[in-house]
Amino acid sequence: MSAATARNNYEYLDILDRAWNAGEIDRPAGGVLIDVGCASFWYASTLSAFFSPRELVGVEVEGHRLFRDGHTRIDYASGYLSHLRGARFMVSDYRRCELPSDVIIAWFPFVTAAAILAWRLPLSLLAPQQLFARVYHNLRVGGLFVMVNHGREEADMASGLCRAAGLTCRFRFAEPGVLSQHRQREAILSCWGRF
Ligand SMILES: C[S@@+](CC[C@H](N)C(=O)[O-])C[C@H]1O[C@@H](n2cnc3c(N)ncnc32)[C@H](O)[C@@H]1O
Repeated sequence: MSAATARNNYEYLDILDRAWNAGEIDRPAGGVLIDVGCASFWYASTLSAFFSPRELVGVEVEGHRLFRDGHTRIDYASGYLSHLRGARFMVSDYRRCELPSDVIIAWFPFVTAAAILAWRLPLSLLAPQQLFARVYHNLRVGGLFVMVNHGREEADMASGLCRAAGLTCRFRFAEPGVLSQHRQREAILSCWGRF
């Protein structure tokens, strides 16, 4: 892992750690954990260390994206996952995935056109209602959906979509940490349940 990737992992770990210390629900462990829109899954180690899942799957629709160095996201993901037992990378559109899960995570899912265009992706991918409906469909009763958004406005918008999909908010955490100082908008974590 490069120094920059390691540092970014510590930031994600710090967000999860502080959010769970502030919240009142137990940290889930041992089940099937799916990360939606995982890019190259550079933070798989963080999810593995924090949740100790039995199975860890990163789903990314743009897994074949080619970088300047000639490698694809799949190549990077295979390196990031090589030491993690039970972990895999899946190139797929999550909206069509049948993946029953105990925990589903989405770090910065697209809920606005501006965000999706900044990532140079087609607007046809902007379908947050379908994405959250699929999260609800795949989440086992009693499971948890953990979402992180850019700033309060986006978090409020995404929360409305979660509620519309049938999810119930368990807690929200919005205290910026030292490792997140580079962010223009604070990272806001919210945790949702399916009952
Ligand atoms: C803002 S990026 C966040 C990437 C990563 N979670 C992170 O924290 O670095 C959103 C990611 O979601 C992926 N994505 C968008 N729609 C998707 C879908 N329907 N199924 C799977 N991945 C999707 C995009 O290709 C992109 O990599």
